[in-house]
Amino acid sequence: MQIKTQLVAISPDQLDPTGIAHAADLIRAGKLVAFPTETVYGLGADALNPAAVERIFAAKGRPFYDPLIVHIADVSWLERLAVEIPPIAWQLTQHFWPGPLTLVLRKQASVPDVVTAGGPTVAVRAPRHPIAQALLQAAATPIAAPSANRFSHTSPTTAQHVWDDLAGRIEMIVDGGPTSVGVESTVLDVTGDVPVLLRPGGVTLEALVAVVGEVRQRSGAKNGGENAREKEEIVASPGLLDTHYAPQADLWLFQGQPATVRDAFLRMVDEERAKGKRLGLLLTEEDAQDVSLFSVYVLGPGRKGQVVIESLGSYARLDEVAQRLFAAMRALDAAGVELMLAHEFPEQGLGLAINDRLRRAARQVIA
Ligand code: TXA
Ligand code: MG
Repeated sequence: MQIKTQLVAISPDQLDPTGIAHAADLIRAGKLVAFPTETVYGLGADALNPAAVERIFAAKGRPFYDPLIVHIADVSWLERLAVEIPPIAWQLTQHFWPGPLTLVLRKQASVPDVVTAGGPTVAVRAPRHPIAQALLQAAATPIAAPSANRFSHTSPTTAQHVWDDLAGRIEMIVDGGPTSVGVESTVLDVTGDVPVLLRPGGVTLEALVAVVGEVRQRSGAKNGGENAREKEEIVASPGLLDTHYAPQADLWLFQGQPATVRDAFLRMVDEERAKGKRLGLLLTEEDAQDVSLFSVYVLGPGRKGQVVIESLGSYARLDEVAQRLFAAMRALDAAGVELMLAHEFPEQGLGLAINDRLRRAARQVIA
């Protein structure tokens, strides 16, 4: 069934109370509203209304065994959702909320099974985006919200991305401009003795370690392997099911030093273009500069095939790379490329989250 999707622009700097109130009314009425958070756009429904939450799964085409993150305005709402909250969780909320950190905790009985995939834990975060904040305050109910993309697609960082995936399937999209962090929240399981990083994201591992001392990394998180869509990861935790932040085109990911990678890039570009393939390259400014012949080589006249380049910004600014990554993949898809080439980033800071998303998107990892 087609639904009429309202697209309403609200400036994060000058919140329009009427627009926010309308979005909040829809949430309270069991409808679906996509809204910006600082990480990516979320597809929200009243977390305490099982029928509304079920509609999220239908709209996204997401399987019911993949649990959702519940969003709250601030830490004072936490005990409505979670029990046996350990001291370390309170400490983490103090440092990182509101912000891109999701905590997995034991759930309150009142949290509907459809939110947690029937499991004993619930994932909770307090987003810091002013629109998300205002919506939560106005709705006065926790909001369950996965990323507002069709299941297995790349997460949306603009309202247009949401529109492209979900128009006709949800009641409202709040357009608050592009999101600032660009990759999803860090998901941290704090139900055990030592916190376990389930998904690297907007809060870096280094920042977490600085606060809590020790964080265990999920085994297999570091190496993408032959095919980054690793089945065993899915079994290890439902949190890893969102395995494919995948563009439409195949993505081949190069691991290794940037200089080596550039040579490999050039060879690959040549080979694939010779086959007449339309290529998309996810590059940094340094890639383009260091290989100044790159533009000549790639875009020069008389060559068959076509190459489209998306810049991710500077190699030295992983925050920019994170912010642009998903939009760049979507742009290459929109340009109709058949094959995307990308390389990994340093495995530090936001590099963990960036590499994780690249590996999950990749059809093939070239070491
Ligand atoms: O930044 C974000 O986290 C965005 C914005 C909208 O908040 N949301 C987001 O949601 O990325 P989603 O559904 O696309 O990803 C949530 C991840 C999934 O991989 C899910 O399996 C995991 O969190 N998750 C949710 N509840 C969990 C639980 N109880 N235990 C383990 N993992 C859980
Ligand atoms: Mg998602």
